[in-house]
Amino acid sequence: MLKFVRYGAWALVLVVGFVSTSILMGWWMSDRSRTEQATAIGGPFSLTDHTGKAVTDADFRGSPLAVFFGFTHCPEVCPTTLLRLSNLTRQLGADAARLKILLITVDPERDTPAQLALYLQSFDPGVVGLTGSQEQVDAALGAFKAYAKKIPADGGYTMDHTANVYLMTGEGAFRTMIDYHEADSSALAKLRMLLR
Ligand code: NI
Repeated sequence: MLKFVRYGAWALVLVVGFVSTSILMGWWMSDRSRTEQATAIGGPFSLTDHTGKAVTDADFRGSPLAVFFGFTHCPEVCPTTLLRLSNLTRQLGADAARLKILLITVDPERDTPAQLALYLQSFDPGVVGLTGSQEQVDAALGAFKAYAKKIPADGGYTMDHTANVYLMTGEGAFRTMIDYHEADSSALAKLRMLLR
């Protein structure tokens, strides 16, 4: 009888242990997938390109993307980044034709499609400039977890903004970022990996 009680107690411990572990695992898994969804970079956007055509993220499916947020009145970070991307693209050789570089403005107030078109003449002809209403730009910023803030300057304003370049696959999935201060060799390796 005593032996039976002891086995019963062990069985109970095992069952309770198994059930509570399953519940905890369930919570952990669902919590993890929720976190992954919340931190996913990239997503739907609806904007107007520098030729005045309405475009969405779906129009770029099939092309690996280098996505950059900036503005044409930017004194340094944006022109530096665009020149750098143009130079790196040249080093990619024939593969470069598949890569699309998107400049999404954080200053839609001044960056009309015509202003973007004028500005982009100084860079690689493959760069696509994107603008839209403030709401559309805010939605794109939100999708990429990017940041932009208006800063008063010299009677006008300038924009503080995320300086990373987002590398996205042709299926629209986030791959990695190029940091503004990253070495060209490392940035080039990331672009090669994206196009492989
Ligand atoms: Ni800038």
